[in-house]
Amino acid sequence: MAPETAATTELTTADGVRRRDWIHVAALGTAGVGAASVLFPLISQMAPSQDVLAASTTEIDVGAIQPGQSIKATFRKQPLFVKRLTPEEIAAAKKDDAVDMRDPAALAERTKEGHEDVLVTMGVCTHLGCVPLGAAEGENKGEFGGYFCPCHGSHYDVAGRIRKGPAPKNLLVPEYEFKSDTVIRVG
Ligand code: FES
Repeated sequence: MAPETAATTELTTADGVRRRDWIHVAALGTAGVGAASVLFPLISQMAPSQDVLAASTTEIDVGAIQPGQSIKATFRKQPLFVKRLTPEEIAAAKKDDAVDMRDPAALAERTKEGHEDVLVTMGVCTHLGCVPLGAAEGENKGEFGGYFCPCHGSHYDVAGRIRKGPAPKNLLVPEYEFKSDTVIRVG
């Protein structure tokens, strides 16, 4: 009987896999399916729901902002500035495109094509994170007519570009798109 048992366990299939190996392969395969079926619900639970995605975007009707005005909104719990530039401010910003700046960027790079009068930036100074002035009526807009950070004296121009003071970067332009002629979706 013993030789017969030995022959069974060492049985080799047509493609050369010994039977004992096949048992191991089959067991691993089953474990793999088990792991995959456990992982999938975990991964699908980790993906953000549509509600969460919607809450992380902000929609603003920029048509309600008059040229020369700015508004303060909130995007992902941080201040967001939206500014409507006057034709004079657009001309001044374009003229300054050629000026040597700390963080060079043309107005066209900081606005959307066909909407160069709408400037959308985070309201967070790039020095140490204070909220600059200039978005509300009567606030100090600094030496370049845009925004002024009173914490350590950073001046941003009408395109939100750093022109004077310790801030190293322009005010950040977040990801956004025009959903219609006047409504933007940020995020
Ligand atoms: S935090 Fe704005 S200048 Fe320092």
